[in-house]
Amino acid sequence: MLLQRVKPLERILAEGGDETKGNSLKKTLGAGSLMAMGIGAIIGTGIFVLTGVAAATRAGPALTISFIVAGIVSAFAALCYSEVASRIPIAGSAYTFAYASLGEFIAWIIGWDLVLEYALGAATVSIGWSGYFVTFLKNVFGLVIPPQFQQSYWEQATNGAIVHGSGFINLPAFAIICLIGVLLYRGTRESALVNNIIVVVKVAIVLFFIALGLGHVNTGNWTPYFPYGVQGMLGGAAFIFFAYIGFDAVSTAAEETKNPSRDLPIGIIGSLAICTVLYIIVVAILTGMVPYKLLNVASPVAFAMDHVGMGWASAVISLGALAGLTTVLLVMMFGQTRVFFAMSRDGLLPAVFSKVHPKFRTPGLSTIMFTIFIALIAAFTPIGIVGSLTNMGTLIAFILVSIALPIIRKRYPNTKGFTVPFGPYLIPTLSALTAAGLIFSLQYGSPTWFGIPAPWLGFLVWLVLGLGIYFAYSRSHSTVGKESSGS
Ligand code: ALA
Repeated sequence: MLLQRVKPLERILAEGGDETKGNSLKKTLGAGSLMAMGIGAIIGTGIFVLTGVAAATRAGPALTISFIVAGIVSAFAALCYSEVASRIPIAGSAYTFAYASLGEFIAWIIGWDLVLEYALGAATVSIGWSGYFVTFLKNVFGLVIPPQFQQSYWEQATNGAIVHGSGFINLPAFAIICLIGVLLYRGTRESALVNNIIVVVKVAIVLFFIALGLGHVNTGNWTPYFPYGVQGMLGGAAFIFFAYIGFDAVSTAAEETKNPSRDLPIGIIGSLAICTVLYIIVVAILTGMVPYKLLNVASPVAFAMDHVGMGWASAVISLGALAGLTTVLLVMMFGQTRVFFAMSRDGLLPAVFSKVHPKFRTPGLSTIMFTIFIALIAAFTPIGIVGSLTNMGTLIAFILVSIALPIIRKRYPNTKGFTVPFGPYLIPTLSALTAAGLIFSLQYGSPTWFGIPAPWLGFLVWLVLGLGIYFAYSRSHSTVGKESSGS
């Protein structure tokens, strides 16, 4: 019963529109733009911020291995996303794929889960943004924001426990979310040109760090390599998995792609491959420049430069990181409102959420609502908690997309697109199992609430809330459901 109510692919494709009739998005994107879009969404708080916490509290210098492990999990998922997105090249990403294959119930769970991924992901990135903002103001202008206004009331201690530190509210994080919310409300969608420029800046900053940092590596800092054992390394992988999130966002542009079966896999897998190589080099250098225990700071990449006496380079990196993190925020908050929009248009959420602002043509109400929600979370929550919960949500989406792949192939044999190698089961199974392994490892280094690791419990609460809404509202209001019972 629960796997019923599949939204037929023909209908999804029809809703996506026909370009010749003018009701669809323009197909302008090629492999290069998609790759730039992927890199724009991927490089952010994960590498610039979470590496520090992860090295100091979880993995130590073995964080480099953690990045390889998380990269492998992401590569399996990227293959699955490439096939599914190229067969169903319609906006909406995993939510749409699931509606066409696993049915409404699972689609609801994915949609609800994506809301968590994007909303909390945005909160995490804004907290990272705040760290670099504070560093930049201090190093360049000598301005110091009082500690009560730099950090949330709660923070995560080195032993993983949640404690009250020196902060009260993270004001810069709150402010940047509000600012991005205003831009999105007014319909400012990042233009491809701006994105491309920022991607170049971001990659240049990373290369700049590599070039300058290489000469300051002290190999003594790599011993002991596994201070927290293999478990710590795995906990680190689960935590910094956040750094890889974003390649899945490329699939949301499927409808605007010129040649989906060729361009989508290149965009998704290519952007992931480039970032993986850069990440591994950066982390090896970072942990070689600074003893891992010192890295538990808000802006570790800039801190490493300060540590070796290159304050000027630290300022350059902070500025580049601020620009880079801003585009990740835009992508995440944009994605969040659009998933909610799609669910509302399908009748799974009240119609007000798909109401479009008469002047700006944006989903105004859900943009305002989520901006407030995300800004409050950003202001009052420690980065480790929101980051882990984002990972949890994303990994669940990866598992569900992997399961959807063989079903889509079987149900729609005539669709054409990229095909994962070795048949419809091997790669998706590896993808689902490795993602489940990372979910398991999320417990290492996380605080526990009621005896359950915080990210697991947080996700469970979100899921139960979602199921309540689904059975109380969505099931009886779904447009697909109404049609199938009426026919
Ligand atoms: N991968 C993105 C980041 O690290 C979400 O900020």
